[in-house]
Amino acid sequence: MLLHGDSEACIISGDLTDSASPEALLWLKDLLVDFPIPTHLMIGNHDDRSVFFDIFDTYAKDENGFLQYTFNVAEDRFLCLDTKKDEPVPSGEYCEKRMAWLDNELSKSNTDTYIFMHHPPFDVGVPHMDRIKLSEAEAFGDLISSHKNIRHIFFGHVHRPVFLTWRGITCSACPGINHQMPLVGRAVSTKFSVEPPMYAVIEIENGELRINLDAFLDRHPVAH
Ligand SMILES: [Fe+2]
Repeated sequence: MLLHGDSEACIISGDLTDSASPEALLWLKDLLVDFPIPTHLMIGNHDDRSVFFDIFDTYAKDENGFLQYTFNVAEDRFLCLDTKKDEPVPSGEYCEKRMAWLDNELSKSNTDTYIFMHHPPFDVGVPHMDRIKLSEAEAFGDLISSHKNIRHIFFGHVHRPVFLTWRGITCSACPGINHQMPLVGRAVSTKFSVEPPMYAVIEIENGELRINLDAFLDRHPVAH
């Protein structure tokens, strides 16, 4: 049974593979060939921008070579940002060139806009993740605050379900689909943990946003 088959878009918010090897990305590309929902890929710290563009050659670079783009669903606008640092480190970056692109995109229209970004520009309350967030958090926040049409920020990277407001904007992340980050350090004997992976189902209608998380690998029948 195909679930959510009426979805108009699927966004995979970066860290597409662990190693960023061409072989791994080709495997992903193969998996997506028959995937029935239009899919929008983003990159995170585990990705390699040039390998991505080599394998997914239908994606366009922005004017500075980053993987940033806009797409629309009905009246709503979605901006997918590139927060990857050039060097292979876990923290994220949003440089002046990327800021200029975002400022320009946000200025083009007053329509409701939803941002997707891999690295959060704020703390989530998990020390290990807060050390490797977006480096330019304040400058990014100032840019965001100068525009009034942003309805929500979706982010990845933290491997946990998180919901918060930041600069008056609601923000959320869903659990990673590989491994998790325990909310409390040392709650398990390893840095990472295994907890239910989930995807988020996002519904937007008449300016109202609804997000449901679904633990797709842990969904079993149970006698009531
Ligand atoms: Fe990440």
